[in-house]
Amino acid sequence: MSFSTPEPTPCLSPDDEPAWSSWGAATHGPLPRPDWVITALGAIDTELGILKTGKEADVHLVERAVPDGPAVQMAAKRYRSSEHRMFHRDAGYVEGRRVRRSRETRAMARRTDFGRELLAGQWAGAEFDALSRLWQLSTDGAPLVVPYPVQLAGTEVMLEFVGEPDGSAAPRLAQLRPDGDQLRALWRQTVDALEVLAGQGLGHGDLSPYNALVHHDRLVLIDLPQVVDLVANPRGGEFLERDVTVMARWFAARGMPEDELRADLLLEDLQYQAGLR
Ligand SMILES: Nc1ncnc2c1ncn2[C@@H]1O[C@H](COP(=O)(O)OP(=O)(O)OP(=O)(O)O)[C@@H](O)[C@H]1O
Ligand SMILES: [Mg+2]
Repeated sequence: MSFSTPEPTPCLSPDDEPAWSSWGAATHGPLPRPDWVITALGAIDTELGILKTGKEADVHLVERAVPDGPAVQMAAKRYRSSEHRMFHRDAGYVEGRRVRRSRETRAMARRTDFGRELLAGQWAGAEFDALSRLWQLSTDGAPLVVPYPVQLAGTEVMLEFVGEPDGSAAPRLAQLRPDGDQLRALWRQTVDALEVLAGQGLGHGDLSPYNALVHHDRLVLIDLPQVVDLVANPRGGEFLERDVTVMARWFAARGMPEDELRADLLLEDLQYQAGLR
């Protein structure tokens, strides 16, 4: 029997010099592909900086450019496989997720180097799959916005950059102090997004004002590796309730009246749509 070894994280050479586009060796995002995606194999990837370092992943700003041609910025989310990584999501969410080979299962359980690399790759793959599915729903007109997943390679997911041409990322919802109308509009978008997910039997699983960006008044959900199958996961109902509660609490703290929030009714409605009641 042969075992696949995890692919090395692509995109940049170790000294961060510009490198050939990693597009050719990567798994590509869903079709129809947005026209800004650069597929030319002669394109160059250049690291522009770090958007955010986290416990579980680092997000880098990368430019992909065709020499004397178009250029685009992307967010490269690289899952950590290091010993120091604390992945709170390794427990609970993965219940029911299957891994084929027992050597790999054992390696992950023992957190060997190989096992850690596999786990990081699994989370990258899970986020890529979830975004691919949700992005396709949005192209069918569903009121849900997620970044387009450009490509997956090993432990890295390359995403549509949600931000400005100068490289500044859109603010997290948590950083904003919206006024009454904006606040209502953002809550409406939160409800719509949760309804689209529940209609598919899904929950975000780690929704919070830190995992939603606001770009030109549009709420963009990010950080989706742990998307929960609400019915199959024994803790699905619990995760859904937490997502709703965490978001509703933030909107209430920002001044949204309880009688407009009605988080209890929303939760019931979502449970109903997901087939949980
Ligand atoms: N597509 C994107 N466009 C712009 N910025 C992004 C994008 N994806 C992630 N970011 C930035 O990186 C941060 C971390 O991303 P994300 O939440 O997906 O990773 P994480 O591992 O959960 O990090 P954290 O532990 O900080 O939550 C986001 O809050 C945001 O500022
Ligand atoms: Mg996050």
